[in-house]
Amino acid sequence: MHDLAVPRQTQAAAGHAPAAGLLLDVQGLRTWFHTRDGIVKAVDGVSLQLREGEILGLVGESGSGKSITGFSLMGLVDAPGKVRSERMVFNGRDLLALSPEQYRQLRGKDMAMIFQDPMMTLNPTLRVDTQMIEAVLAHDKVTRKAARDRAIEVLVKVGIPSPEERLQVYPHHLSGGMRQRIAIAIALLNSPKLIIADEPTTALDVTIQGQILFEVQKLCRESGTALIWITHDLAIVSGLADRLAVMYAGRIVETAATPEIVGGARHPYTHGLISSIPSIHTRGKELFQIPGSTPSLLNLPQGCPFRARCYRASSSCVQDPPFEQVGPGHWAACWHQGVQA
Ligand SMILES: Nc1ncnc2c1ncn2[C@@H]1O[C@H](COP(=O)(O)OP(=O)(O)O)[C@@H](O)[C@H]1O
Ligand SMILES: [Mg+2]
Repeated sequence: MHDLAVPRQTQAAAGHAPAAGLLLDVQGLRTWFHTRDGIVKAVDGVSLQLREGEILGLVGESGSGKSITGFSLMGLVDAPGKVRSERMVFNGRDLLALSPEQYRQLRGKDMAMIFQDPMMTLNPTLRVDTQMIEAVLAHDKVTRKAARDRAIEVLVKVGIPSPEERLQVYPHHLSGGMRQRIAIAIALLNSPKLIIADEPTTALDVTIQGQILFEVQKLCRESGTALIWITHDLAIVSGLADRLAVMYAGRIVETAATPEIVGGARHPYTHGLISSIPSIHTRGKELFQIPGSTPSLLNLPQGCPFRARCYRASSSCVQDPPFEQVGPGHWAACWHQGVQA
């Protein structure tokens, strides 16, 4: 860990005093994959803080390192991936010091993940009722009857009609939307303090996406569960998250309260994401698209990773921009963040 220079982003975030009710405190998270072709720096110096019950939208185009950030926090990165961090504290526990067994205990109890593909959670060979009951019993010494009642309670919460019947089937008997609701129900089973949802509605139709998003937000608000909602779609989370963190090429390039980002983004990449959201004003017009595509994270050169696509880029951008505070709770990593869009 000590062979790495402290990233600027970390230096900036280290200035924060730990706030009351801080649930997650991550500084300088780096998850690198050592491959035959070189090092893929999927996550490269991410710092994140989350308060109890807070809803954070982690946004960025595909390939920016969002999932790997989520997997790193959940202890789910396998070789050749290597997770390093200067600090990774969840609910007062040092995640970096956990054994695989301790991590397994934590997952499904205090922290849970909802994956893009619900079959990452569901076992195709077991009936839904068996899996849900086992998921309760793995963390709680209660009777089977009590575990079953808990399963039914959460299924009702995620909007599954007649859950008693639904429980007695195998996952492949259910629609994609229903499977994802059940995976969400499983995440909620043991009332976790943190849920990380990794684009769980992407494969579903738009109406169901909206419903599920709304329900998960409501459930988290009711139970005081903190939520990290990962998505490539800024429009989806901007109506739901307290705060947004915009990720690009393995780094967080901007973070602020949601209205601050939507109304006063400082990073050109964030501007690009906002401008590409369809609205009534853009109806019938060609929608803005950020030029170019996300860079490969294999052997990424030094400097601002967005510079090749950026309308503000100048010679200063070959140096890493500092992650600077630009307003209350608002941080951005851009040499030209003061320039008007
Ligand atoms: N097992 C792996 N080996 C090598 N590179 C990986 C591996 N898993 C992910 N990556 C790379 O990490 C980068 C970030 O991936 P990911 O977190 O899935 O992005 P996102 O979720 O934002 O779409 C991608 O460039 C991807 O190719
Ligand atoms: Mg992903």
